[in-house]
This record gives sequence, C-alpha cells and structure tokens, in this order.
Amino acid sequence: MTVVLVTGGAGYIGSHACKALASHGVTPVTYDSLIHGHREVVKWGPLEVGDVGDADLLAAVMRRWKPEAVMHFAGLIAVGESVREPAAYYRANLAASVTLLDVMRHAGVNTMVFSSSAAVYGAPERLPVAEDAPLAPTSPYGRSKLMVEQMLADHGAAYGLKWAALRYFNACGADSAGETGENHEPETHLIPRALMAAAGDIPYLDLFGTDYPTDDGTCVRDYVHVADLAEMHVAALAHLAAGRASGAFNLGTGHGWSNRQIIAAVERVTGAPVPLRLAGRRPGDPPVLVADPNRAEAELGASARHTDLDAIVESAWSWYRRHRR
Ligand code: UFG
Repeated sequence: MTVVLVTGGAGYIGSHACKALASHGVTPVTYDSLIHGHREVVKWGPLEVGDVGDADLLAAVMRRWKPEAVMHFAGLIAVGESVREPAAYYRANLAASVTLLDVMRHAGVNTMVFSSSAAVYGAPERLPVAEDAPLAPTSPYGRSKLMVEQMLADHGAAYGLKWAALRYFNACGADSAGETGENHEPETHLIPRALMAAAGDIPYLDLFGTDYPTDDGTCVRDYVHVADLAEMHVAALAHLAAGRASGAFNLGTGHGWSNRQIIAAVERVTGAPVPLRLAGRRPGDPPVLVADPNRAEAELGASARHTDLDAIVESAWSWYRRHRR
C-alpha cells in the first residue's frame, strides 16, 4: 500500500496514525476540516483541508491522491455534548460517514479502518468486555459509532467493502519523540485534566464519583497508549490487505486503572499535588470498562506495548509542558 487517506489526520489519534503509516512506508494524506484538528501536527504527508460531509471536495481529493484505503478518524468525540446536541453528532459521525462511503465506492476504494469506540458497549455486564458482548450504547455518540459499524458491515455484504472497526478504550499518552500529542478544546479527559490541575492551569480536578462499586470507589478504565493505537491501525490495514476477515476489534490493554490510581500517577510524574474537588457521578459513566484484547492480538497480531502507567503519564506530561496555553 502506498497512499492512505486519513480523515481527521490532524487530530490526536489520527496524527499518531499518520506517523505510524509513514514509518511503514505509506504516505498518509490528511483530510481534515481543522475545526478541531491542528495544522502543526500534519507532518508526515500532505494536508487537504475539508469536511468529510463535502462529497465534491472529497471526490476531488480521492482523484488527486488515489488512496488505496481510508482511515476514518474525523468526528465529534464528547459523550456529554452528544447528549445535548445529538443532531451535530449524527451529522458529523453518521451522515458524513455515509458520504465518505459513497465517495469511496464511486472512486473504487474498498478498504476502511474506522475509529470506533468502547462506547458501543454502554455499561457492560461482563468484564473484561469482548467483541461479542451486547452492544448497548448509552449516548448519541456511542450510537453514532455503532450505526457506522453496522453500515460498514452492510457495505461489506453488498459491495465487498473490507473494513475494520477499531473500538478504542481510553486513548492516552503522546508520541515519544514529542512530535504530536493530545490537544482537545475543550479538554474533558482525565489524564490531561489531572495534568492541568497539577500544573496549576486549572484550580482543581473534579473527581466524578467516589462511591462506585470498585476497590477505591472510583471508576476503572483501560488506558491504551496512542502510539500503540496507531500501530494497531497499521496492523488492521495489513490484515485487510491480506484478504483476511473484516470485523470489529477491541483496542485496549486488558488492564484497568482507577481514577485515583491515575491521579496518584500524575502526582508522581509531575511531583505536584493534584487538587481535587469531589464531584458527584458524571451521568452515563460505567463503573468499570476494561477490554478483552484477545481478538486483536490473535487476528491482527497487535497488542499494547506501553503498559507502564507512569511512563504513559510521563509522555502526556512532556507534551503538555511544551504545549500548554
Ligand atoms: N473523570 C473525572 N474528572 C474529569 C474527567 C474525567 O473524574 O475531569 C473521570 C470520568 O468520570 C471517568 C474517567 O475519569 O470515570 C475517565 O473519563 P474520560 O473522560 O477521560 O474518559 P471516558 O472513559 O469517559 O471516555 C472514553 C473515551 C470516549 C468513549 C468512552 C466510552 O474518551 O470516547 O470512553 O465510555 F466514548
């Protein structure tokens, strides 16, 4: 494979995927509206500025670059916002994906690696959660991701689309060389918020819920390093290019960290206390979300290599220190 179109390539996970693609000799062509993405992290291939919902522009970009596959990261990502503004989420995550698949079909591009989410499981009954667990998303965000997965399967059956839906657990960390990292506006995720509080850039971290049925009363999540996610996307592409089966894959480590354990790691790494405000539970948060990563390991040959929590937090801290606003 020589050229891959990367929608959302100027975003957090998309930019790391571009770096991984380039390291495997593939040219990533970033297609990004730059509404949430950042021009500065498009370093490994050309940038085309546009919206995935713009069929004409997308078709022109496909004609210009002739990609053999698409990695589709572009979309809205905030679960809480999706509850307040579902129309925006169905437009950006679902309708734009319909357009993208139409344009791909007309251009003869029949391979897609899609950014899905553990949000498709909702609050799982059994842990760790495997891909055949019930799909019961609890937010418009999660439902929009699940609908795209279903659409991919239908396109596979009818048009021969080869697809992989990668269900991320909690993406974290930053590129070890400091070339890209997390830069959301607004930032809502735990590790960057805790770093902001440790740095004194926000007065305190709201800790959402201390009465969950877990060892220390706080939620438990499966934190997977973004560089591992990026390599797993390349592995998924290779899997599809080799003619192996399309499907959904969990991308996680199989290990959970509680919110309090994350905060303790942030304090160790930064050497500063994280001032806390004990807030109530955040609506929609499942108590525990940990992946069964076996399918990705067995079928994609891909697993998380970054398992040391302090090293993960250190990579995020080192990026944050240099890019804090
Ligand atoms: N948390 C806090 N304070 C904060 C931010 C988060 O206590 O300021 C807690 C949350 O309540 C949760 C944990 O930290 O218990 C992790 O929260 P994040 O917002 O960092 O991540 P989520 O687990 O909510 O979200 C992730 C992905 C989403 C995906 C979701 C699926 O980022 O894309 O998992 O449940 F939809």
